[in-house]
Amino acid sequence: MIRFNLNGRWIESTDIDPACTILKYLRTEVGQTDVKEGCAAGDCGACTVMLGEMTEQGIEYRTLNACIALMANVHNRYLLTPSGIGRAGDLHPAQQAMVDTHGSQCGFCTPGFIMSMANLYQNACINEKQALTDDEIHAALSGNLCRCTGYRPIVDAAKKMAELPKVDVSKISTRAGVQTFDPDTQTLSPQPLQYKDGHRLFMPYTEAQLKALLKAYPDARLWAGGTDIGLEVTQRFSQFDTIICVNRIPELAASQDTGNQLWLGACVTFSQAENELAESFPSFAQLLHRIGSRQIRNMGTLGGNIANASPIGDTPPVFLALDAMLEIDGINGRREVPANTFYLGYKKTVMQPGEYLRGIRVNKLSAEETLTTFKISKRYDDDISAVMFALYLKVNNGTIDSARLACGGMAATPLIGEKTSAALTGKPFTMETFKQAADCIEQDYQPISDVRATDKYRIQVTKNLLTKAFIELNQKGDAA
Ligand SMILES: Cc1cc2nc3c(=O)[nH]c(=O)nc-3n(C[C@H](O)[C@H](O)[C@H](O)COP(=O)(O)OP(=O)(O)OC[C@H]3O[C@@H](n4cnc5c(N)ncnc54)[C@H](O)[C@@H]3O)c2cc1C
Ligand code: FES
Ligand code: FES
Repeated sequence: MIRFNLNGRWIESTDIDPACTILKYLRTEVGQTDVKEGCAAGDCGACTVMLGEMTEQGIEYRTLNACIALMANVHNRYLLTPSGIGRAGDLHPAQQAMVDTHGSQCGFCTPGFIMSMANLYQNACINEKQALTDDEIHAALSGNLCRCTGYRPIVDAAKKMAELPKVDVSKISTRAGVQTFDPDTQTLSPQPLQYKDGHRLFMPYTEAQLKALLKAYPDARLWAGGTDIGLEVTQRFSQFDTIICVNRIPELAASQDTGNQLWLGACVTFSQAENELAESFPSFAQLLHRIGSRQIRNMGTLGGNIANASPIGDTPPVFLALDAMLEIDGINGRREVPANTFYLGYKKTVMQPGEYLRGIRVNKLSAEETLTTFKISKRYDDDISAVMFALYLKVNNGTIDSARLACGGMAATPLIGEKTSAALTGKPFTMETFKQAADCIEQDYQPISDVRATDKYRIQVTKNLLTKAFIELNQKGDAA
């Protein structure tokens, strides 16, 4: 049975297919055609909806791409769509501002823009804030594409909405009664939410439940944010016999600061990690701003990025450079493996059936240590890397004591550049050292040419990034 609140109305049904996308359910089952389909791949933002979750502080909303998120995601949550937040004569500030600034042209992308703006408004403007910064607006709208290039009036609308009279959408969500925050009701038994045709979807709420499920169904597909696996459903029409959604297990969705180490649960989303890494790893947090869009960062998890084993995932090279430990758990017990030994080949990892990635442990950096990351892609927002570059250095009195370069997009897996790292280690922290080390890049990496970049470009840009890293660190005095 799935129970959720749609635009202020509670819906409870055993007929809802938990593996149906939210977009398909909304448009075809309940005629909610205010939510549009553009790409069905998480790229364009036309399908953006707001999903609210009851917390001790009230309902917390985030945007997501309804085209690649499953109905299982809405269970016990509050879903808002454009027609739910306002209607003619009673428009939400995001809608009113869009009208006032002539921000809508074709109207196809408009509902998605409205939801991204309304979510920003709800999180930033409701309580105290009057003005929104350009950065806040650009980040919120980074996953919404307008093919008419009407961005300027849309950004104007986002600025203007902050000045309009306050509307709190949580009042709309709770119109038909408030579901008070009760941790016990969040911990439902893991009854399968059956697929209509007999396939199974489970949503465990504890690790013990997850392990019991993995014992019964060791080949089940794990589903975290669904931003990779969701595409298998919408683009390749895959049907999985058994899906286990892992993202409601509190231990996996939490992070912990233990003083000199940071523990990041596998289901920590990119948006969560942006905040949690900001202090200890600012360059990593900066990189996270470049991953996908706000909607994708609200859904996608660190664990999914690692376990997916894509050669072009953005965070694995960083975890390799930081010499992170990956904690794996499952039916055969818990083990830790260094990130550097996790990948066995293209899309292959050391994880066995019945296992799951539990979390990531990284040592915080001391005053002598630095992390530098660069992402090279054709677009700034919402684009996959051609090259991902991460460099860890420990420099003592002008000598590089330790160095680890790791790159994505340069081999079949995220990979440490052993020779380049060795060429830096034990050497003086000078441009000369970095230039000599850059000559080792071709020995470490033999990238392919594809739609994102040629092999030659990838090699050249990685060499350039190595010297750029020196220039930036030298200027900042971080590694002197
Ligand atoms: C529009 C768009 C833009 C994107 N942009 C970027 C980008 O800029 N950079 C980037 O790196 N990626 C990007 N991605 C890819 C994707 O968002 C990331 O790889 C994300 O981290 C996947 O996490 P997820 O939680 O959504 O994984 P899911 O899709 O849920 O799972 C991915 C894989 O990992 C497995 N898995 C998930 N969690 C676990 C676990 N705890 N234990 C074991 N196995 C697990 C699943 O079974 C599946 O095989 C983008 C995707 C889209 C659709
Ligand atoms: S339809 Fe394009 S992001 Fe969902
Ligand atoms: S106004 Fe819809 S694509 Fe530009």
